Amino acid sequence: MSGPPMTAVAGIAALVLLSPALAAARAVTSAPPSDRVAAPAGPAARPVAPAAAKPARDSCATCHLETGDDRLANPVKAYAGDIHLAKGFGCTACHGGDPNEDGMEAMDPKKGYIGAPDRRRAIQVCGRCHSDARFMRQYNPSLRVDQVTEYATSVHGRRLREQNDPRVATCTSCHPAHSIKPPSDPASSVHPLRVADTCGRCHADAKAMAAYRIPTDQRDKYRRSVHWKAMSVKGDLSAPTCNDCHGNHGAAPPGISWVGNVCGQCHSVQGELFGRSAHARVFTDIGVPGCVACHDNHEIHETGDAMLGLGDEAVCASCHKPDDKGGRTAVAMRGLIDSLATEHDGARALLTRAEHAGIEVSEAQFDLNGAKDALVKARAAIHGVTVDAVKQEIDGGLAIAAKAHARGVRALEELRFRRTGLAISVVIIAALIAALVLKIRQVDRRQAAGERQA
Ligand code: HEC
Ligand code: HEC
Ligand code: HEC
Ligand code: HEC
Ligand code: HEC
Ligand code: HEC
Ligand code: HEC
Ligand code: HEC
Ligand code: HEC
Repeated sequence: MSGPPMTAVAGIAALVLLSPALAAARAVTSAPPSDRVAAPAGPAARPVAPAAAKPARDSCATCHLETGDDRLANPVKAYAGDIHLAKGFGCTACHGGDPNEDGMEAMDPKKGYIGAPDRRRAIQVCGRCHSDARFMRQYNPSLRVDQVTEYATSVHGRRLREQNDPRVATCTSCHPAHSIKPPSDPASSVHPLRVADTCGRCHADAKAMAAYRIPTDQRDKYRRSVHWKAMSVKGDLSAPTCNDCHGNHGAAPPGISWVGNVCGQCHSVQGELFGRSAHARVFTDIGVPGCVACHDNHEIHETGDAMLGLGDEAVCASCHKPDDKGGRTAVAMRGLIDSLATEHDGARALLTRAEHAGIEVSEAQFDLNGAKDALVKARAAIHGVTVDAVKQEIDGGLAIAAKAHARGVRALEELRFRRTGLAISVVIIAALIAALVLKIRQVDRRQAAGERQA
């Protein structure tokens, strides 16, 4: 048997020695989150903060470790890294009982012991503290206290309440009971980089989900998306994972009536343009899911100009024909964007050539970034599906590109002038050198003739 890791040892020691916690836990114990067990204070009693308590021991952890039974000892070992231990809470915070009793009486229901709570009971256990704003404020005033109510509105919560569905997620499905950590901890089951796996444990398991008629591809598709790439490769934790779109506890995020509308919270420019477009109105009427119609929901990819127009990869082609207004608009917008892209690239190449030849063009190169910006704006403007809005951005960009192009042409003329100048000087210098060599030889020959005569 190998020993527990150091942190676990330290944590267990802390647990065994952590006296204030236990007394507090005792106070908590006297108010178990129970509606079955008769308890002095009843389920409505407030939890009590550990700091206010007197020293005590924790018989629960000690005895459970001594039993040598993994089922009983593992929760103690896991609990070493749990936020609740760090905040001073012992086992009784959730299980009740009396941590001062050394024997099995510690687990006497008369002392508030509730055993291992089942799925429904677990929600009450957590909620007794987490739904109590006054209690939670003592620890962290900014922590939300709506998890239980939000959870209740989710598909998970509704199915548990209405059908006692044993397969849906409850608090401890996403926050494993004895190793609960805040979302900011990279080892937490709800850290942004780990959420997809936490949800995927059920949602990517075809067997676990066999009873339902929903796909089990969300995690794998998400793993191929631009959002996951931004998060996992670029380290951009502002990119969304499952809970950012679906809500932490199941209800859609604040201000959002439906998950499909969540995109605009981050992509506000596209969201606004789309919201005012002809599409927004007609999509709602015919039940087309907004952004998702063109970008998908889980497998969202990098975009490109090929998506626009009526070509093979164009999203517009799935609903529009060349002869309807949407099709004509798509082709026109694509033409405008292509024209600016071509002008921009041409001017950029010209300036790069000049730069490599040593001509100072940095100002023109900087100015040309304005054309790039116009291109970015035009690509966002397509979401309004009017040619005019796109044309406005493109016209501005074309003017900038034309100026930069002209500067590039002048730079290359300058280069040609310098090269011609250089060539002429080379010829003159070469001629001078040749003349000099001839002169030296002449002098040498004369000297040699003089010596022979002497
Ligand atoms: C003297 C040893 C001992 C002490 C002290 C003790 N336990 Fe236990 N505990 C056990 C044993 C043995 C079992 C398994 C037998 C059983 O389920 O009754 C167990 C089972 C449990 C279970 C699992 C019950 C289930 O339904 O599977 C929980 C939860 C638990 N204990 C919590 C606690 C808490 C909380 C304390 C402290 C207030 C505590 N124990 C104190 C020995 C102990
Ligand atoms: C934050 C609440 C919480 C705390 C604190 C907590 N538990 Fe639990 N425990 C649970 C819940 C909830 C379950 C029910 C199983 C589940 O949902 O994973 C459980 C289950 C158990 C079980 C049964 C495990 C099984 O596999 O049958 C044991 C034993 C146990 N806890 C012991 C402890 C001990 C010992 C401590 C203190 C070191 C402790 N728990 C602290 C919430 C907690
Ligand atoms: C005895 C009261 C109590 C109980 C019961 C309790 N918690 Fe906590 N929980 C706290 C306190 C206090 C904190 C620390 C808040 C802080 O300082 O950020 C906390 C922290 C957390 C955090 C980290 C929050 C953060 O971002 O800092 C999570 C997640 C959490 N609890 C989930 C649960 C779950 C799930 C359960 C039920 C299995 C549960 N808690 C039961 C009091 C409790
Ligand atoms: C379907 C998975 C899931 C379920 C079920 C779940 N949570 Fe969470 N919870 C999360 C995620 C994901 C986060 C991280 C949110 C973030 O990144 O800010 C979180 C965060 C938290 C926090 C930190 C504060 C906050 O709200 O962001 C607490 C406390 C918490 N959960 C408690 C609970 C309680 C209590 C329950 C049961 C009523 C529960 N959770 C059920 C997934 C879940
Ligand atoms: C313990 C397993 C489990 C975990 C973990 C879990 N879920 Fe679920 N979820 C289910 C089950 C079962 C359903 C019910 C399926 C149904 O009603 O079609 C469900 C339903 C849903 C639905 C509604 C699907 C529909 O019918 O339209 C969404 C959305 C969802 N879950 C998102 C999540 C997210 C996001 C996470 C992680 C933060 C998560 N789930 C974690 C089991 C789980
Ligand atoms: C960028 C936002 C976004 C992200 C990230 C996201 N979803 Fe979704 N999800 C959606 C939208 C939009 C829908 C469609 C909702 C509808 O039709 O009501 C959806 C639908 C679902 C459904 C219903 C069944 C289905 O496939 O249509 C489940 C289950 C689900 N998502 C789970 C997840 C899980 C698990 C993750 C993480 C691996 C995740 N989602 C990540 C936006 C997102
Ligand atoms: C929580 C914020 C957030 C939400 C919600 C969100 N996104 Fe994103 N999105 C990002 C971030 C961050 C990037 C990555 C930007 C980068 O690094 O390239 C991104 C990238 C994208 C890209 C690729 C852009 C490109 O340059 O090619 C598309 C398309 C996209 N998201 C569409 C959506 C859609 C559709 C939804 C809703 C279903 C959505 N996003 C929801 C933050 C979000
Ligand atoms: C999911 C199907 C769908 C997709 C994809 C789609 N459209 Fe549409 N679009 C419609 C419908 C339906 C209408 C309203 C009926 C009509 O005018 O054809 C519409 C209307 C329009 C209109 C207004 C026409 C008018 O009469 O005022 C324009 C412009 C347009 N779409 C452009 C585009 C462009 C550009 C794309 C690609 C970026 C695109 N659409 C992609 C379904 C779609
Ligand atoms: C009718 C189809 C369609 C709809 C609906 C749509 N988009 Fe786009 N989106 C496109 C096309 C086509 C491009 C590529 C434009 C280009 O690169 O020329 C694009 C590009 C993007 C980009 C990257 C380029 C940029 O604008 O910066 C983001 C981000 C984006 N869309 C987000 C969204 C969001 C958010 C929504 C919903 C509010 C949405 N899209 C709705 C077709 C659509």
